[in-house]
Amino acid sequence: MPALLPLKESSRELIVEVANALEPYFPDITTSWRERLGADLGLDGRALAALERLNVSTGSSYFGHGNMTGFFENLAYFGNRLAKLQIDTRAVARSLELYESLCEPYLGSLFGERLGEAKAALEMLSAATFQTVSGAYFDAKTSESAALLAVLDAELSAQDLAALLERVLEITVTTFGASNGVVLLRDHDSDLLQVTAARGLQEPPEDLTIPVGQGFSGRVAQTGEPDVVLDAAHDERIQSPALRRSAASWWAVPMKTAAATTGVLMIGFAKPYEWMPTERELMRAIAERSALAIDRARINEALREREVRIAELSAHLLRVQEQERRRISRELHDETGQELMVIRLYLGMLENVVTARNPRLKIRETLDVVDRTIDGIRRIIARLSPLLLQELGLIPAIRKEAKDLARNTGMKARVSAPPDIGRLSTEAEAAVYRVVQEALHNVAKHAQASNVNIQMSKENGELHLLIEDDGIGIQTKYGSSRSRSFGLAGIKERIGMLGGQVHITSGRGKGTRIEVTVPPEPTRESGLVLAATAKQGGWNAQN
Ligand SMILES: Nc1ncnc2c1ncn2[C@@H]1O[C@H](COP(=O)(O)OP(=O)(O)OP(=O)(O)O)[C@@H](O)[C@H]1O
Ligand SMILES: [Mg+2]
Repeated sequence: MPALLPLKESSRELIVEVANALEPYFPDITTSWRERLGADLGLDGRALAALERLNVSTGSSYFGHGNMTGFFENLAYFGNRLAKLQIDTRAVARSLELYESLCEPYLGSLFGERLGEAKAALEMLSAATFQTVSGAYFDAKTSESAALLAVLDAELSAQDLAALLERVLEITVTTFGASNGVVLLRDHDSDLLQVTAARGLQEPPEDLTIPVGQGFSGRVAQTGEPDVVLDAAHDERIQSPALRRSAASWWAVPMKTAAATTGVLMIGFAKPYEWMPTERELMRAIAERSALAIDRARINEALREREVRIAELSAHLLRVQEQERRRISRELHDETGQELMVIRLYLGMLENVVTARNPRLKIRETLDVVDRTIDGIRRIIARLSPLLLQELGLIPAIRKEAKDLARNTGMKARVSAPPDIGRLSTEAEAAVYRVVQEALHNVAKHAQASNVNIQMSKENGELHLLIEDDGIGIQTKYGSSRSRSFGLAGIKERIGMLGGQVHITSGRGKGTRIEVTVPPEPTRESGLVLAATAKQGGWNAQN
């Protein structure tokens, strides 16, 4: 930003004149200024060098070239530098005043009766210089705060609530050089403030809850305005003995979002320490930023909890579905099936005793219908809960699925698995079987493949399953939240329930590969799974 010249046109000419007249004496004046200021304020070389750039002696080298603006720009730069060196503005004022007073003795002989005018010119220059330097200090502090808040925003994003509160306290306590800090969060149902995080307290805070509106923090939460306590030991507003003993003074600011005050941020100091307006505003800004971050963290936590609940629910639904399928298939098998067999038996007996041709024909036709019904029901049972899976295990059931696929689509389907794969729990076998079933349905439905390959193996108790085809590959982006396809999602869900993992790789024209790993099972009792109830006899669905 170009420096604004805080001087009137008319005074500028006079200033230039005075500076020019003093020019020969500046070396002497500067030497005594340096000695006196060094002794008075104990400043180091860097600070003195920066302060020297503010003096009229420096100005005169600019004025000589008619460049007063250049001098003021230079002032802004060195003001910023002095702010960073943490030189108090009072030291700046003292330095300017000293230089001015050292110039004055020379003015009498140089300006004679215009002495007053010359003095006023120097005074005006000092005042304009101080004003510009203060502006630079302000800018420096503002950008320092902005940088701090930016760091804060970055640090406060994506953290869980407990870690976030720790970080808020750490940042606030170190920024203000406090000795301890407390975050009280508001429970909106009970309208109580509760100490949720604390740092550097002499003793842990009692299980402290403060009604909004009561005590020091309660009132800050209610009014939404910052406040200080300068004598914690005797101030009745500080009700907690732990807080009273931990610090002599406390600063508190509300943690506000657009919607509400969500809590109070407090820091304590070992000594009575009043805040400056800039400190209060900075702490207020930190608290506001923190309140937003806390809101975000709370929402994230709620979302995570919901996700977990949804995952649990869908796992539960899958189990119930499997259970239900087994129940229906068993009822079809044991009841409808057995009754159909009885009907078939009676019809056979009837066929043997009836001699008239027409009724015999009708009986034969009815027998054919019954046989077709029995076949249809067998197929339904097989799909619902394959008896082969229950009786002989995964491999034969998978081979049967592969054979069906080959028969229905004309593709080649190969299953390779070692004979000693052993049995898994009913639950795990059902899940793996459903995964293969869905993967093969997808191959039939989407892949346009010529070959599909299914491999299964077991290593150190870990089950590996691979289903790969040489079809067109997955063309759509699966797994997007708005997708209406559930097959692949179901595969992940089922394998996730077993603690396993699914990797799907696919490329256009490069086929699709689904790799599944299932860890060894803990010996778990699956209470949900019904014992294999298939009865031997005419009702085995897969002959
Ligand atoms: N083997 C495959 N080859 C090519 N594309 C596939 C294959 N498997 C899946 N896809 C693609 O991925 C998408 C998602 O599959 P997914 O099984 O999740 O859903 P779907 O089969 O479309 O429906 P459903 O919910 O009935 O299973 C499919 O619509 C298809 O475009
Ligand atoms: Mg599918």
